[in-house]
Amino acid sequence: MTLRKLIAGNWKMHGGSAALAELLLMEAAAQRCPHVDVLLCPPYTLISEAARAVPHLIIGAQDCHTHASGAFTGNISALMLKDAGARATILGHSERRTMHHEEDALVCDKAQAAFHAGLLAIICVGESEAERDAGAALPRIEAQLTHSVPQDAALEQLVIAYEPIWAIGTGRTPSLEEIAAVHEAIHAHLVARFGERGAGVRILYGGSVKPSNAREILALPHVDGALVGGASLKAQDFIPIIEAA
Ligand code: PGA
Repeated sequence: MTLRKLIAGNWKMHGGSAALAELLLMEAAAQRCPHVDVLLCPPYTLISEAARAVPHLIIGAQDCHTHASGAFTGNISALMLKDAGARATILGHSERRTMHHEEDALVCDKAQAAFHAGLLAIICVGESEAERDAGAALPRIEAQLTHSVPQDAALEQLVIAYEPIWAIGTGRTPSLEEIAAVHEAIHAHLVARFGERGAGVRILYGGSVKPSNAREILALPHVDGALVGGASLKAQDFIPIIEAA
């Protein structure tokens, strides 16, 4: 089954209103590539303006809270994101798992909140360098999938992103064979757990994706797109990645 490719950008804590000019350029490129879904996840502060300014891009968030509303100072709910014009959210990014101590169970609850709000949930998994060196990458990813992806997940709203922690922002990537092996394992997990419908869940690769390596990574089996950090900030870097899909 060939799935529609999804190229997603994660701006992390970068970008003010001046960055909207980059989004306009990215939107024009996305319109030239109608076979690709293009998603940009700017900081919360830009979501509503971006959703209005570039309607042909999918605008998403980088996290959400488990609850719809309440006394949670500083947090944003999935329903609020939806109301602001977001159509997706990244969940369980390794920077949240590490710096904010987010565990699989919390990521799972956040995914439920995203599904209820009608958002696409991009659940991130990936091993540390020590785990890869110890030959423990696949068991680690399998455990993250088991506990971060809800048992009754809304599969049409689910995307998995494989992001080896040691490849994020480092310029290093696994070999093509290593990426293919992990994507095959994630695909097999989804099919074993959800049946044939699991085969329709897109699996993105993330970690130092750039114009020079995007095409070969995106050509691998079960690589249905990319989650791009640094190279999604500037249109001149991100557009060639869209075009490589
Ligand atoms: P990078 O980040 O592309 O800068 O490595 C990827 C990510 O953190 O999603």
